[in-house]
Amino acid sequence: MNAPCPAQLRRALDSDGNPVITTSGLTKVYQSRGREVTALDGVDLHVREGEVYGVIGQSGAGKSSLIRCVNLLERPTTGTVTVDGVDLTALAGGGGRRAGKELRQARSRIGMVFQHFNLLSSRTVQANIELPLEILGVSGRERSRKALELLDLVGLADKAKAYPGQLSGGQKQRVGIARALAGDPKVLLSDEATSALDPETTRSILQLLRDLNRQLGLTVLLITHEMDVVKSICDSAALMKKGRITESGTVSELLATPGSELAAELFPVSGDPTGEDRTVVDVTFHGEAATQPVISQLSRTYNIDISILGAAMDTVAGRQVGRMRIELPGRYEDNVVPVGFLRERGLQVDVVEAADAAGVVAAAELIKEGAK
Ligand SMILES: Nc1ncnc2c1ncn2[C@@H]1O[C@H](COP(=O)(O)OP(=O)(O)OP(=O)(O)O)[C@@H](O)[C@H]1O
Ligand SMILES: [Mg+2]
Repeated sequence: MNAPCPAQLRRALDSDGNPVITTSGLTKVYQSRGREVTALDGVDLHVREGEVYGVIGQSGAGKSSLIRCVNLLERPTTGTVTVDGVDLTALAGGGGRRAGKELRQARSRIGMVFQHFNLLSSRTVQANIELPLEILGVSGRERSRKALELLDLVGLADKAKAYPGQLSGGQKQRVGIARALAGDPKVLLSDEATSALDPETTRSILQLLRDLNRQLGLTVLLITHEMDVVKSICDSAALMKKGRITESGTVSELLATPGSELAAELFPVSGDPTGEDRTVVDVTFHGEAATQPVISQLSRTYNIDISILGAAMDTVAGRQVGRMRIELPGRYEDNVVPVGFLRERGLQVDVVEAADAAGVVAAAELIKEGAK
């Protein structure tokens, strides 16, 4: 049995890549009707320059608190937040108090996109996008030029004079994104930007975020409770539970981590053993291994019959990845050598016990529950 190694699960990042967002020992305790609520309980987050980083977790896990602490809309109780080399927690204001000049300046390099768009209904689309530029004191002509350029970038060049009430949800979110880009941010924060949208519009907004990430080199930190969002655009991901990050890493690292809950949820495979005395293993294929006929080699080499109980194939972070649940005759002790054969060929092999198979399904259900 491959017990997950906590150090492995919490592993943050490869050493390469400049962290553009770093939080260290971040805690947030709210005072609510005389009670204390710990929303963040020691969060160390490292988001590298140019990546799309997803934080996923159930309702109440602390995701919004985390993202609001990253731009100091909430002031953390303890810990530090550094964005693009600036320690925001050292600057005055934030968390409901008026931000000092330095914090305002640092914030203009952090764009924020909201679930419910937060557009001003009395202003035209163009005037909504110009708002942050007005606050920055940019001249009228320059504001107008910039707003029209951004509208073009998000595919709404013909909607400058429309009002938010005349737009669809997807169009409103495009305006929200254009507004977030007005200050030429280095990073874009997104709090459930697609949760209020239908699946097709969700796909188009995610594609837009991906395009902006590539075209502008924009670093994106997004929070979501939908695994599909992580699957379609994230390079890295973290799982949050009760104010803590329990797993994090690049998607490839997570897929290669034995016992990773995120990996299991990205690739849920199911299937129960067909009888007693069987060994069930989940085999994850990525990179070169995906194209090798390993299962038939295994069967021939050891002269064993292999049953496929379940399988899933998908593209994650632009790479083809697959997972297969297979069954070998005999107990695990009898299959140490065949399992070693698979591992030697670079495959990720997780031995599944019956109770674990149920556990993975339960975890996936929990996330879904949280989404409701
Ligand atoms: N302003 C506040 N005052 C008191 N408690 C708060 C406040 N904001 C959040 N909390 C509490 O902090 C915890 C984390 O909340 P948070 O909004 O960060 O979770 P979340 O992961 O974003 O959830 P969801 O998926 O539902 O948006 C919850 O227990 C919540 O009730
Ligand atoms: Mg939230």
